[in-house]
Amino acid sequence: MSKKTAAFYNYFSFLYPIVDVFLKPQKTVLFKEVNAMPIGKLLEIGVGNGAHFKHYKKHEITGIDTSATMLETARKNRSGNISILEMSGEAIKFSDEAFDYVVLSHVIAVVNNPQLLLAEAYRVLKPGGQVFILNHFTTDNWLRYIDQSFQQIAKLLHFKSVFRIEDIPAIKKFELRKQINLGIASYFKLLIYQKP
Ligand SMILES: C[S@@+](CC[C@H](N)C(=O)[O-])C[C@H]1O[C@@H](n2cnc3c(N)ncnc32)[C@H](O)[C@@H]1O
Repeated sequence: MSKKTAAFYNYFSFLYPIVDVFLKPQKTVLFKEVNAMPIGKLLEIGVGNGAHFKHYKKHEITGIDTSATMLETARKNRSGNISILEMSGEAIKFSDEAFDYVVLSHVIAVVNNPQLLLAEAYRVLKPGGQVFILNHFTTDNWLRYIDQSFQQIAKLLHFKSVFRIEDIPAIKKFELRKQINLGIASYFKLLIYQKP
């Protein structure tokens, strides 16, 4: 976990709703896929300000994040049976096989160590459990040059602009169940993986 990233999100949490406006169309797809799954225990890692809570229709939700300020807003957005905890997705304090679903929405390229994040997601998922990964992914088309040239600025904004899921060894333990391409030139993707 990076204390600097937590401090960054503490400081700029008030701006996040503006960023979220641009992410809305792809998140609609995420919620549709999550809500189509049978009832179960869902862990959202990097839950941010909890804006997603109202979109989850039937699952038992636990949200974790490293930014205390984001979580303060998340607590205001909470309704019903939702648990919110300050905790890193790179060191999850839940037992093995505790969840049916894990949601990683725009967090995998933010955390310090995506390998640890995915290994932890794998550990806390039940066999047959699914992880929903919504993010930008560096493509093989012209968009990769934008990602490459944006790397230094992205570092200041605490994310990795060049990001390829196949570079993370832990993803190989999962089976890809579904891929939905989103945005211009499929720059964003919703990847749904299953733990065998
Ligand atoms: C770009 S925001 C995404 C928020 C929300 N998931 C969304 O889709 O809008 C990234 C969030 O991940 C959190 N975060 C960063 N590193 C983390 C870590 N190691 N464990 C848990 N959350 C983390 C940040 O505090 C921030 O709230």
